[in-house]
Amino acid sequence: MARLSSRADLLDRLTNLSALDPDDMIGPAIAFPEQCQQAWESGCGFRLASRTTPKVLAVTGMGGSGVGGLLLAKLYDGRCSVPIVANRDYTVPASVGRDALLFAVSYSGDTEETLAATKQALDAGARVICLTTGGKLAKLAARYPRRTQVLTVPAGFSPRAALGHLFFPMLALTAQLGLLGRGGIAAVEREVTETLRLLRRMSQELHLDVPVARNEAKQLAHFLHGCFPIVYGGTGLMGVAAYRWRTQLNENSNTIASHHEFSELDHNEIQGWRGGNPGLPRPALIVLRSKGESKRMAERIKITLDILGRRLHRREVEARGASPLAQVLSAVYVGDFASIYLAYLNRVDPTEIDNIRQLKKALG
Ligand code: PA5
Repeated sequence: MARLSSRADLLDRLTNLSALDPDDMIGPAIAFPEQCQQAWESGCGFRLASRTTPKVLAVTGMGGSGVGGLLLAKLYDGRCSVPIVANRDYTVPASVGRDALLFAVSYSGDTEETLAATKQALDAGARVICLTTGGKLAKLAARYPRRTQVLTVPAGFSPRAALGHLFFPMLALTAQLGLLGRGGIAAVEREVTETLRLLRRMSQELHLDVPVARNEAKQLAHFLHGCFPIVYGGTGLMGVAAYRWRTQLNENSNTIASHHEFSELDHNEIQGWRGGNPGLPRPALIVLRSKGESKRMAERIKITLDILGRRLHRREVEARGASPLAQVLSAVYVGDFASIYLAYLNRVDPTEIDNIRQLKKALG
């Protein structure tokens, strides 16, 4: 790509990948479409112990295990016959009681907020389905055998790299319960098929072997390198994608980053750009766009970017696909790859999360 500087092909000249990425974060990213397919099938094949329709559907989980709940709520709340609550806390709202179904999601099974929230929901009489590799969450479930089920997800991933395993089973089970339309699984099958097909294509396009000139994720990593990444989501749905971008940049690329979403940012953050932010590294703004945006929203985004000025270091990423599911996961997928490529440029191990581990250890 002519406009990129001479260091721009750094990502095409990586020699020692096993030193840069010793625990192979890029492997699950490349295989993400297969992971999603397997996870979808596992959810479709899971036999629910009870088919009683809940009055509330809730999801609790933190960090990499919390993203699936945010996706489920943002994607399907408007279509689900009951409210969907995405929870990331030690406690659950009062609505998560006797008539609720809670998905308790913790990849390790040992996250204290998720354990506490799940225990509270169980004590309040909720039904719970745990998505986990085991740990204390599976043990907690075993103490309430009549109201819990455990969907065991494959071990060996970093939690954030297991997004497919932690999201698609919840979608399949929500559909199985008839909450997304009478067709059950069939009500969402078409969008899942479209999404998996798109992700397979993207996996080839964003692959490590594809040079910077044709690889959007590598270009984005170069764009962000040495800057302070700020990610804006162009709609509610893209807001969740922007959140995922930030957390992947934090954990994989070891960088502080921020995210915000339209139109809320027009009521606060837009003013924050005014002061020039002395002392902060050069900001690099990524705006996630989608064709789900209304005309009004597109107009709003254009005006906002005009106010921020032409000289701002910024890029737009266009979500792909027709269905909202394909749109949001395509935006997430580009960010996942970009965060790993940025880790390579930052010379940090994308799997290592020593600060998080240290904190969990200190909390005991
Ligand atoms: O990606 C990560 O490793 C973290 O964000 C974890 O997901 C988070 O700390 C919660 O842990 P767990 O997913 O095991 O519940």
